[in-house]
Order: sequence, then C-alpha cells, then structure tokens
Amino acid sequence: MTSLPHGGTLINRQAFGKDVSGIQKTLPIDRVALSDLELIANGTYSPLTGFFDEENYRSVVENMRLTNGLAWTLPITLPVSENVAESVSEGDLVKLDYRGTIYGTLKVTGKFRPDKEWEAENVYLTTDPEHPGVRRLFDRGDIYLSGPVELVRRSERPAEFTSDYLDPAETRAWFDEKGWRTIVGFQTRNPIHRAHEYIQKTALETIDGLFINPLVGETKKDDIPADIRMRSYHALIDNYYVKERTAFAVFPAAMRYAGPREAVFHAICRKNFGCTHFIVGRDHAGVKNYYGTYDAQKIFSNFTRDELDIQTLFFENSFYCKKCGGMGSNKTCPHPASSHVALSGTKVREMLRSGIRPPETFSRPEVAQILIQGLRAESETIGH
Ligand code: ADX
Repeated sequence: MTSLPHGGTLINRQAFGKDVSGIQKTLPIDRVALSDLELIANGTYSPLTGFFDEENYRSVVENMRLTNGLAWTLPITLPVSENVAESVSEGDLVKLDYRGTIYGTLKVTGKFRPDKEWEAENVYLTTDPEHPGVRRLFDRGDIYLSGPVELVRRSERPAEFTSDYLDPAETRAWFDEKGWRTIVGFQTRNPIHRAHEYIQKTALETIDGLFINPLVGETKKDDIPADIRMRSYHALIDNYYVKERTAFAVFPAAMRYAGPREAVFHAICRKNFGCTHFIVGRDHAGVKNYYGTYDAQKIFSNFTRDELDIQTLFFENSFYCKKCGGMGSNKTCPHPASSHVALSGTKVREMLRSGIRPPETFSRPEVAQILIQGLRAESETIGH
C-alpha cells in the first residue's frame, strides 16, 4: 500500500495536446526548468502546481517549509533574464519554449529578484561558485517568475528506454498491483556499484519491494552520463536482482548537489512515487567535501515523522572487506581499513575511462563492461 502523496493529493497539471496557438507570448526556458515543469505537472513535486512565488521562496530557503507549513527544502523557481522578465506582466499566460518547441504554459502571478548569495548560503551551505549547484544558481537568470503551469507536451525520451519513464500515478498503480505494502526508494546519479547494491538488498531484507530510481536529469560534466548508465542498470538488475521484488524507473530531475537539503527533497519525491521508505547512505547528493559524511542523514531530525511521512533508512559507509569476504560497514566489520576495498568515485571514473575494469569487489563485471564500452564510444564521438 503506497503512502499518500506529499500534501495529500497527487498533482496532475498535464494537458497533452491542448491548443496553445492562441497564446501570444513565448518564454524561453532552460533544460532544468523544462525538467521542473514536467515533474510539477506529473505530480513528482506534489503539492507544487507551479513555480514558487516570493513568499514560498523565502519560506523554503529560510525554514525548509512552504508558507502552508508543509516540509519542502529546495526552491523550485523559474529564473529568466531581466529582458525576458520585462516582456511579461502579472496575469499574462505565456508559452514555455525549450529550443524551439512549446512544452507548456505559465500563468504569471508574480516576478521577483532573488538574493542568490543568501539562497546559496542557505540551500547549498556555501557561496563558492566552484560548487556545481551554486554555479548553476548564479548562471541562471536574475529574475524569478512565479505561477501555475501546465504541460502540453512531454520532452523527448530515449527510444530504447521509454518504458523506464513512469509518472507517479503509474508507479503507484504498479506497486499496488505487485501487492507491496512497503516500498523502499533508492536514488543515485551513478552506476550501481557493490556498496549501493549492498545497502539496497540489506533494506530489501525487511521491506516488500525495492524501487531503483536513478536520476537522469542534468548532472555535472564529469558524472557518468545517464544514457551510458541506463544499460548498466538493466544488466545489473537482470543478473543480480529478484524480478518480483524490484521495480525500476528513472527520476528525470536535475541534480542540485545540495547534499542534506536535496536528500529531503529526494525523499519527498519518492514518497510521491509511492515509496514508504527511502535510503540515505553516506554523503547523499554531496559533491567534493562541501558536506559532512552524514549531514544528509542528520538534517531529517528537523522534521517530525508525520511531516515527511516517509521513513528514512540510514546506512553507514559500506565497503567490501577482504577479511570478511563480503560487504559490510564499520557497524558489522571489525577489520582495519587496510582490508577494505575503498575506491573513490573519481578514481573509478578514471579507471573506467581508461578502459580498466574495477575489481569485482567494487563493481559487478557486467556493469563495468558496459560502462567501459559506453565511455569509450563517448570519447570517440567527441574526439579525444
Ligand atoms: S547521489 O545521488 O546521492 O549523489 P550516489 O550514487 O553517490 O548518488 O549515492 C546513492 C545513494 O547511495 C545515496 O543514498 C548515498 O548516500 C548512498 N551511498 C553511495 N555510496 C555509498 C557507500 N559506499 N556506503 C553507503 N552508502 C552509499
């Protein structure tokens, strides 16, 4: 039995095929805004029905709650340039255009100038422009438009993986069909390595179903691209997971790298997909050393169980121990770090890009093989 969506109602702002030709004004949006538009419209961001107004923006940045008191940790805003902002007025209905195609509409209810330094400090806990989330925040437009949206057309999905794109209404129906009473959601922006597999399966020992839900929206350049990861997820699930206990669909959101705040956001979105539980391991949604290893777990103590209504499952840093001959963490393995297989994400990406297969104690060979091939093909296409 899936839990209720955040705020109680699954939002649906989809109006596919609606005739918008009579609307005069067109507003260019970027890829992140397009992804937010789609996720608002299909209910992944329930209870949001549009882009934040100034009151909700201030409230979320300051208090991690919407003005109605509901928990929400990341501002969902529509930044535009000053010029574009000048061309629209409150009350306008505008078409949202991404690279020449109209995907939706916005009923403009307001516009405001955000304090980006303040936003960065509160949301990302840093104003360092080297932080990929902060950099994107600074790079995007300086005026935020607010108002409810409608989605009239979905963005293109890779043909090979169309069936991996499911709306929350669909995942909810799917979980119910499977008869699962408890469902644990798993977020990742990476290939699934042995530590990920270990924490997923450890959770699955006491939960009815596992929902693997990798993020495939915009990520930073050195992360492994989603199209390469996709094939590796399927190979892993086909070879190592119990079909009846595993569900897979993508999370087409942009990565913010906001660590703790993004962990709460990720949990809320997975609740909307129908999960009752959500995994938060070490340095969830973190980047470099901006956040402490377990900060993304600690932040949940700011919310009551009822406020979030999804149960978090926290995991310690996990690894393969040569002495134990299996996976574990410092809670279960008594051996010194010298017997642990510890490889940083950066190191593994380097290995894969040079065609070197990481050890089986780190990554399943089927996964490593696909990643090496994918990265090789990618580097040949871009010519280095
Ligand atoms: S991210 O989306 O959170 O940035 P990542 O792939 O790094 O993606 O992690 C996915 C999930 O697995 C997160 O909850 C993270 O905390 C957890 N995780 C990743 N590696 C480990 C590990 N070695 N031990 C425990 N948890 C981990």
